[in-house]
Amino acid sequence: MPARKPLRICLAASEMTPLAKTGGLADVTAALTAYLDARGHDVRMLMPFYSSIEEGALEIEVVPELQDMAMELDGRTVHYWIVRARLDTDGPSFYLLQCPELYSGPDLYGGEDEHIRFVLLTRAAIEMCQRLQFRPDLFHIHDWHTALLPVYLKTTYAWDELFRKTRTVLTIHNIGYQGVFGNDVLGPIGLEYSTDFLDQEDLYHDRVNFLKTGVTHADLLTTVSPTYAREILGPEYGMGLEQALRARHGRLVGILNGVDYDEWNPENDPLIPFTYSATDLAGKEKNKRAVLEEMGLEYVFDRPLFGMVSRLTYQKGIELVEQALPDLMRNHDFSLLVLGSGEPGCEQFFNWLQKEFPGRVGFYRGFNNPLAHRIEAGSDVFMMPSRYEPCGLNQMYSLKYGTVPLVRATGGLADSVQHFDPKTGYGTGVVFHDFDANGLTWGITTALKLYANKHAWKQVVYNGMQKDYSWAEQGRLYEERFRKLVRD
Ligand code: ADP
Ligand code: GLC
Repeated sequence: MPARKPLRICLAASEMTPLAKTGGLADVTAALTAYLDARGHDVRMLMPFYSSIEEGALEIEVVPELQDMAMELDGRTVHYWIVRARLDTDGPSFYLLQCPELYSGPDLYGGEDEHIRFVLLTRAAIEMCQRLQFRPDLFHIHDWHTALLPVYLKTTYAWDELFRKTRTVLTIHNIGYQGVFGNDVLGPIGLEYSTDFLDQEDLYHDRVNFLKTGVTHADLLTTVSPTYAREILGPEYGMGLEQALRARHGRLVGILNGVDYDEWNPENDPLIPFTYSATDLAGKEKNKRAVLEEMGLEYVFDRPLFGMVSRLTYQKGIELVEQALPDLMRNHDFSLLVLGSGEPGCEQFFNWLQKEFPGRVGFYRGFNNPLAHRIEAGSDVFMMPSRYEPCGLNQMYSLKYGTVPLVRATGGLADSVQHFDPKTGYGTGVVFHDFDANGLTWGITTALKLYANKHAWKQVVYNGMQKDYSWAEQGRLYEERFRKLVRD
């Protein structure tokens, strides 16, 4: 059989690990770029060169065609240029968009010119292809930040024959962030004469919704788990986009994220003090003692340790923790380690909890990847009581680390964790359904009972460690969809 022709893919996103990361989006764009590159496709990944990116870690190459670029934006000429970079000689190369006037702030997101920053990224992806005379089979765009790309292809760049056959794929990682702005941004972003392509009701209400526009105009929509793909068609999870999504129903697929086991594997993780495996778990207990000591907590043999690593936001179900945890901690013997930052109220709660239960609760406010690995390795139970979770990565990391996930049955959590039944020995975690304090209380007491039953505990830990959510499988699903789209 003849070898299949490699695809030409231009991927544009706001973050990619390890350069810039606030959440799972960064893990996914990095892993997918690496996967597609390793499969022989021609992948051009573009992201902003934020000032927080350390140049020292990169090999940077000047690309003559990508110098001296300019775009009319926000009533002025914005100058930019693009470099090619790689992290190491084996890895894929990617492109970094340089525009110091827009990307030198301390944060990736927020600020008054956020729409301008991401429209520059979106359009620069198109203009990069033009300059390189790279004829993409498809653009793969992610979340609201680059979701206007299909409309720009149909309007501003419609004249360019280079994109005559180009398709667009929009992956929704989180429908909670839609990029909604007043419609006075239309002039500044160059879409004032393209209002036919925008949602008329939104325009009537003086707003424009970037993600909704992408949902309406991309050729293919994907989201990051099959369950979330179903959930967002209804009002509870669709967050106002359910109608737009239902109108494109046949074009929406859910593909569970994969895990990069080169980074997340207890057998060879350089970020944890003691490596271990499913057949030799001695290192796990040592990691538990080490991380408890590091966080200033007591180590008591047989006292279960619950871990959380999370953005502390509405999405993540922190309010259930606030309602349920204090009483549970008073009545049961377990410890809790939390790593994260976010809404001030959530941070205050964990500061309070830490003072209320000294020696048993530890809270590290901030973003710290090595500590995230040590919490994964040292905890017995990993808690994700999410209100909604498009996919979630930590529960899958937890499975590999023998850390039993305690999750709410939603989105990718429902697709990757099965409730353990001691009678059959089947299942990989503790799964609760109702989004309320009773649901989480049931989940935690169930996990505590399970932990006390040594035989069942061994089984659930073992079951989880056998699971394989690697990109090899999930990446193939993307590849198949891309091929079908390009063929059709
Ligand atoms: P989301 O993208 O909604 O935040 P995911 O579970 O998909 O949720 O991905 C979160 C990713 O970010 C994981 O890799 C997790 O380890 C990491 N992460 C989240 N908060 C922190 C933190 N405070 N420090 C280090 N890593 C974090
Ligand atoms: C989002 C979601 C998370 C998902 C991640 C990567 O931020 O909240 O569930 O795993 O994107 O797709």
